Amino acid sequence: MNKKQFEKEVARRRTFGIISHPDAGKTTLTEKLLLYGGAIQEAGAVKNNKIKKGATSDFMEIERQRGISVATSVLAFEYDGIKINILDTPGHKDFAEDTFRTLTAVDSVIVVIDVAKGVEEQTKKLVEVCRMRNIPMIVFINKMDREGKDAFDLMDEIEQMLGLRVTPLSFPIGMGYDLKGIYNIHKQNINLFTGASSKEIHKTKAISDINDTELDKLVGEQAASTLRDELELVDGIYPAFDRKEYLDGDLQPVFFGSALHNFGVKELLDGFIEIAPEPRPKKAEERLVEPKEDQFSGFVFKIHANMDPKHRDRLAFIKIVSGVFERNKAYKHIRLDKNLKFSSPNAFFAEKKEIVDESFPGDIVGLHDTGNFKIGDTLTSGETLHYKGIPSFSPEHFRYINNSDPMKSKQLAKGIDQLMDEGVAQLFTLELNGRKVIGTVGALQFEVIQYRLEHEYGAKCSYENLNVHKACWVDESVAKPEEFTDFKRVKSKFLCKDKRGQLVFLADSSFSLQMTQQKYPSIKFHFISEFEPAAEALV
Ligand code: G4P
Repeated sequence: MNKKQFEKEVARRRTFGIISHPDAGKTTLTEKLLLYGGAIQEAGAVKNNKIKKGATSDFMEIERQRGISVATSVLAFEYDGIKINILDTPGHKDFAEDTFRTLTAVDSVIVVIDVAKGVEEQTKKLVEVCRMRNIPMIVFINKMDREGKDAFDLMDEIEQMLGLRVTPLSFPIGMGYDLKGIYNIHKQNINLFTGASSKEIHKTKAISDINDTELDKLVGEQAASTLRDELELVDGIYPAFDRKEYLDGDLQPVFFGSALHNFGVKELLDGFIEIAPEPRPKKAEERLVEPKEDQFSGFVFKIHANMDPKHRDRLAFIKIVSGVFERNKAYKHIRLDKNLKFSSPNAFFAEKKEIVDESFPGDIVGLHDTGNFKIGDTLTSGETLHYKGIPSFSPEHFRYINNSDPMKSKQLAKGIDQLMDEGVAQLFTLELNGRKVIGTVGALQFEVIQYRLEHEYGAKCSYENLNVHKACWVDESVAKPEEFTDFKRVKSKFLCKDKRGQLVFLADSSFSLQMTQQKYPSIKFHFISEFEPAAEALV
């Protein structure tokens, strides 16, 4: 493949994630997008991937969903000559860490908001992560077929609660029972709502002039007049769409629709492929890497264990950052300083995976792994690069993990080690006595770990409660030696190492954390494992 063809392949890729609070309609929207790509035949293919509410102890369910989630981790399809890769982000809050990691591999996101519920808790957390990374965001306000908040009020709420700066590119004509249609501000056409079958692809009607009486005929005089007033208001209040501002993360276009009725989805998809970024450059510790460079590089953002407990192999998901990834070619695993070849790399198409010979920047390949990879690892054609930006966040729940079968301690250690590499949870080892503490985002993970240790590694464990408020990564780079020595002596009971060997302070309450910070001002504490040394503390 010559350089020109390669660049063309890069330029036609759009890799993104859909984020939302559970139930806002992410799964429904994903399915409708796949429908446009002709990528799914049956509805419900994506739906099955959802962790059902309250399914905390149904292990068969967890196993079944782990299987499906391999298939739906990346949903790729072609639309209008564009190769679209949707990276699945679990909506369940217990898997928030997984979602944060996936966000390191996307080039943009679509934020789905329920018109009746407005901005919700998970939306806030996820948008915050995207804002920190300046990820371009498009907002889709869903469920317009239901009564909800007024469009202007909702956009206000989004600006205030999410700290975004929005501008609508489409606008609803009524809502709920009175939903007449969607006016596409960008394209100046109208899409009439018929409430028809969700599989139907709606036809749009061009309106060259909003004052044309044709509009009154289509939606009724009153709705037409309201729309004219509202569009005037939109014009007065919101900034004109500017692609550069959107790409820099400074402006977020808004679309309205109903995923369930497949309404407004085409406007969203067409808008998306027109404005969303092609694969973006990525920072490595050494330098900024451009996607169109000819040497291959990529990083692991997700590891999925094999479903068959007898085969310990796993699938490592690599986001390709630059160059072409080729089957059977040797690539350098930077952390292990070792060359590896992959004979059957998987690429993902809709809900199936296939072996591919070549993949391009923006694409995700799944590599069979027998234990070489950890989340965050970099693979290159030879150059030493370390991609940044897959931090761990402080877990919310902490428990001691104990071995319940002394004959199986090796199996337990191996199992814990591998599950942590997969990013299921975080492991902390207390400095004082070597006891192991597992930290997770949600309570569900403890049960998943126990179940998988037993079924995949033949090891048994039990937990013991531990009162920890937050894990704080300790930055001692500018600490006064006498302060640091005293801190280590006084707090020895609460000090541990994470898996990378970084020092972590397990604070038992926010009060004790505050007191510690006051007593040792030269030591910085962070709720996140990756920080610039001596940066202002995040705590
Ligand atoms: P999620 O992935 O963000 O968690 O949400 P999901 O798509 O599963 O949607 C949550 C619920 O909202 C589903 O109903 C879905 O049918 C409904 N929904 C999605 N989009 C729209 C829309 O545009 N309008 C309306 N009225 N409803 C919508 P459910 O009853 O929980 O599930 P199901 O029984 O329909 O499968």
